[in-house]
Amino acid sequence: MTVKLSDKKTYVVANWKMNTLIEESVKLAEDIKSGLETLTSPEVIVCPPYLSLISVGEIIKDSSIKLGAQNVFWEDPGNYTGEIAPEMLKEVGVTHVIIGHSERRQNVGETDEMIDKKVAAAIRHQLTPLLCVGETAEERRQGVQHMVITDQVKKALRYIPPPTKRQHLKICYEPVWSIYPGQPCDPDQAKEIATVITQALIDIYPQNVVQENFTIIYGGSVTPENVANYVDREYIHGVLVGTASREPKTFLNIINNISAS
Ligand code: PGA
Repeated sequence: MTVKLSDKKTYVVANWKMNTLIEESVKLAEDIKSGLETLTSPEVIVCPPYLSLISVGEIIKDSSIKLGAQNVFWEDPGNYTGEIAPEMLKEVGVTHVIIGHSERRQNVGETDEMIDKKVAAAIRHQLTPLLCVGETAEERRQGVQHMVITDQVKKALRYIPPPTKRQHLKICYEPVWSIYPGQPCDPDQAKEIATVITQALIDIYPQNVVQENFTIIYGGSVTPENVANYVDREYIHGVLVGTASREPKTFLNIINNISAS
């Protein structure tokens, strides 16, 4: 029997990656905020580059939009040149943090061990992790995607005690080959992997904890046209949007199309 997650909300996460200068982030945040006022919205979380966090936080502070970071270090403040501690993110109003994005796994060699420490640090500081997992094109070609995803989920949560309701964890399934300019994942395949993720979680935690305290989100070439095919609110409860989140009208259409579905 397939276990479904009980989260009733939907989530739209904007990952601006390393694309927006402060001025551009501010403009984008303003446009999204004013567009959202007319929409019955799912929970929207915007993740600008580190340097834009304070300015974007100022703009969205009186709105329902949440502030997310794209990364975090696992230690408390100290001698760690170039890193940002969870406490520092909290100080500027961050509530969510993307951890283990494939671009970090690939470009800066982030390992499952590092990801596990980041998830633990985020939870310790009441930041909601948006934990990214996903197989490469080669892994899918070899047919080992279930094994890869199960392994990533279990390793990233190895030392994490069962989350409480307040700590609600979000797992983002982002097949590496689907990230723009890749091909969007077939929605049925995304749902199949969502069940694999759920099973991996049930191998670690009691079933009721998984059902109540975890949410699964899909990411990879999400557009206004395809978004409703992914979000079924049973297996997949939201989307992580990169490219399409940097065009306010397109991003608002994504939100609108989820609300309408
Ligand atoms: P994309 O990026 O929407 O541009 O495919 C998604 C992501 O990498 O988070």
